[in-house]
Amino acid sequence: MENTLQKKRSAETDLGIFMSQCASDVDRVLEDLIPREDVEPVNLHSAIRWSLFAGGKRMRPAILMAVGQVFDVPREKLLRTSAAIEMIHTYSLIHDDLPAMDNDELRRGRQTSHVKFGEATAILAGDTLQNLAFLTIANDANLTADLRIRLIAEIASASGTPRGMVAGQQMDLEAEGDRNITIKDLEAIHRYKTGAMINVSARSGAFIAGAGDEEITVVGKYAEHLGLLFQITDDILDVTMPTSVLGKTAGKDISAVKATYPALLGLEKARELAEIARRNACVELSALDRDCSLLNEIADFIHSRSF
Ligand code: IPE
Ligand code: IPE
Ligand code: MG
Ligand code: MG
Ligand code: MG
Repeated sequence: MENTLQKKRSAETDLGIFMSQCASDVDRVLEDLIPREDVEPVNLHSAIRWSLFAGGKRMRPAILMAVGQVFDVPREKLLRTSAAIEMIHTYSLIHDDLPAMDNDELRRGRQTSHVKFGEATAILAGDTLQNLAFLTIANDANLTADLRIRLIAEIASASGTPRGMVAGQQMDLEAEGDRNITIKDLEAIHRYKTGAMINVSARSGAFIAGAGDEEITVVGKYAEHLGLLFQITDDILDVTMPTSVLGKTAGKDISAVKATYPALLGLEKARELAEIARRNACVELSALDRDCSLLNEIADFIHSRSF
């Protein structure tokens, strides 16, 4: 028993070290890529930096780099794509918080972009992060031209429509207040608005590794469950955690009558489905003939946030 506990603790510590190393590596690259605050137009660059360097978990870069590590890819080849995905994620958060969308005032423990800089600048900060992301991949001298094109196409598709993040955000807004939504519809919203970017993060690690189609499919199936797990957990945390821990306003989903797992099924059932998604993610990995312990630990970590 003690042994198992010790093992668990050291595994958590290993993942903790891996994640903070990923975060500091990706932050270094982001720091180089984003114009400084004293470059004109200063409000735009200040707004981008305000949201980007506010202490996000850097979960998507960690997922990309973990897949890269499983396939023995040198870290240098993974960094710019990881930074690009974090830029798109941050743009999606800035726009998600706008008054016309979730109308939130707190993000990553500080004022949201539109509260601090005004709505127009927040919209433009998001726009800029999106095009800087694609520019970053287009200019990545560590990757072949073919690989850059593939990454740009996959990430554009995952962040757009009809099966990407923007499509999911539209569906999420249209489902607000709808108490008759089915679980199947809710799952689709979650897979698109959140799962698609998590999925492309994982698969990008495999693309950069030059993995074969079968291996890429397995990584995609793992990440499909992981993405669902991530958003179910986010929905649970909205109900169970205080604002001080979340760094965003707690209970917002209930007040906005958002379609979420806890709202539709209750907390207990939502937790059960999170556990099923965690298990499914790990089961998929057994089809890879590689040491996937890091990817299993990531699934366990995301799941552990839902307790
Ligand atoms: C929040 O994402 C938005 C969702 C997709 C649920 P994260 O929980 O990864 O937010 P940060 O990046 O750590 O701030
Ligand atoms: C956001 O989902 C998903 C995105 C694409 C940004 P939420 O609206 O639940 O994210 P939070 O709770 O505001 O971080
Ligand atoms: Mg939202
Ligand atoms: Mg929101
Ligand atoms: Mg949420």
